[in-house]
Amino acid sequence: MLDLTAPAPLAPAQEWNDPARWWGRLSEATGELSAPVAVIDNDALRYNALDLLLRAGGVPIRVASKSIRVREVLDAALRLPGYRGILAFTLPEALWLAETHDDIVLGYPTADRPALARLVADEQAAARVTLMIDDIAQLELVDAIAGPGRRANLRVAIDADASWRAPGLGHIGVRRSPLFTSAEVAAFARLVAGRPGFTLVGLMMYEAQLAGQGDDTGSGDAVVRWMQRRSRDELLTRRSTIVDEVRRIAPLEFVNGGGTGSIEYTAGDRSVTEVTAGSGLLGGHLFDGYRGFHPAPAASFALDVVRKPLPDVATLLGGGWIASGPPVASRQPLPVWPAGLKTLAREGAGEVQTPLQGPAARRLAVGDRVWFRHAKSGEASERVDAFHLVEGEHVVRELPTYRGEGKAFL
Ligand SMILES: Cc1ncc(COP(=O)(O)O)c(C=O)c1O
Repeated sequence: MLDLTAPAPLAPAQEWNDPARWWGRLSEATGELSAPVAVIDNDALRYNALDLLLRAGGVPIRVASKSIRVREVLDAALRLPGYRGILAFTLPEALWLAETHDDIVLGYPTADRPALARLVADEQAAARVTLMIDDIAQLELVDAIAGPGRRANLRVAIDADASWRAPGLGHIGVRRSPLFTSAEVAAFARLVAGRPGFTLVGLMMYEAQLAGQGDDTGSGDAVVRWMQRRSRDELLTRRSTIVDEVRRIAPLEFVNGGGTGSIEYTAGDRSVTEVTAGSGLLGGHLFDGYRGFHPAPAASFALDVVRKPLPDVATLLGGGWIASGPPVASRQPLPVWPAGLKTLAREGAGEVQTPLQGPAARRLAVGDRVWFRHAKSGEASERVDAFHLVEGEHVVRELPTYRGEGKAFL
């Protein structure tokens, strides 16, 4: 069993700050395995799990499964006191997890008719899974699936928009819920609470412009920090008003907010009862660009050098594990070892090959390995059947990904 409870040193050694040692050890431990070889380092994962808890300051953390997609890692985090419940990303996934977990909030609305039919028919799953809604059409769909004269008995939570409507600049954040003002959310809450077949148990407001936007990326940081200050102030007032109003309509079990990048702020908002985090566990490299925290590179992968088109270019087999989101260079995997390697601007990380350039490429030969970190944290799990769990000098076991368990949800 993957155990994150083993006592971690109070001042962790943070060996990942000595890259030659860190990546050299992982190369040694995995040298006999075929590439692409994906690794989770136990100490780094434990460090990240405990650091998230410290940052949350006692507010429970709901684990975002999309940012992990490895059941054993989810379970190991959930065994740590301070972690509670899962934020799932599709209803089929939530139904699957509900076989073994009893507190699953679906983070996004669903229109999956067969999965909704299963949820409506399965009493245990209906008691364990909370649907996310922001539109009465989503409830009408459930009623249509339940059939005439039959009532679903489902738990639902309202997703309210936590973006910032900046004077003169417009919408800053992600396009999620249409419900923004307290009046809009309260009116919707009344409709939901008065509708047979549904129990309003929660509210979620995810502030992507704070949680998912680094403030120390080396590009435009001053503007981002200004935006985030203003957005934090606005949201603190609006969220507490919304929560007060909705609590007058229904006795909420939870008010969820935040993500890896905003934990301190979100946990400090007294209207919030739990924060979500996922990416901070595996430590995708997009989370390197924050002032407030520095995740350890818990997940990484290595590829083989297979050719040398020029003395200072080493070409790897594969590598185009591009992260979702705006198609910018930072969505590519980051070559981390040997140090000083870069993808070629005209080619990037490709489907079948990734040429890397830089002084270190001169020393790379066919058969050598190059280590990468994925930009995001859960998407690499869609590329491999398992991560190799490294403890100290050794691979101790394989941790199957969702894909390795034959599951592909999105
Ligand atoms: C609804 C919701 N909450 C929280 C998060 C934060 O997850 P993470 O900690 O992996 O960044 C996300 C990420 O997109 C999300 O969609």
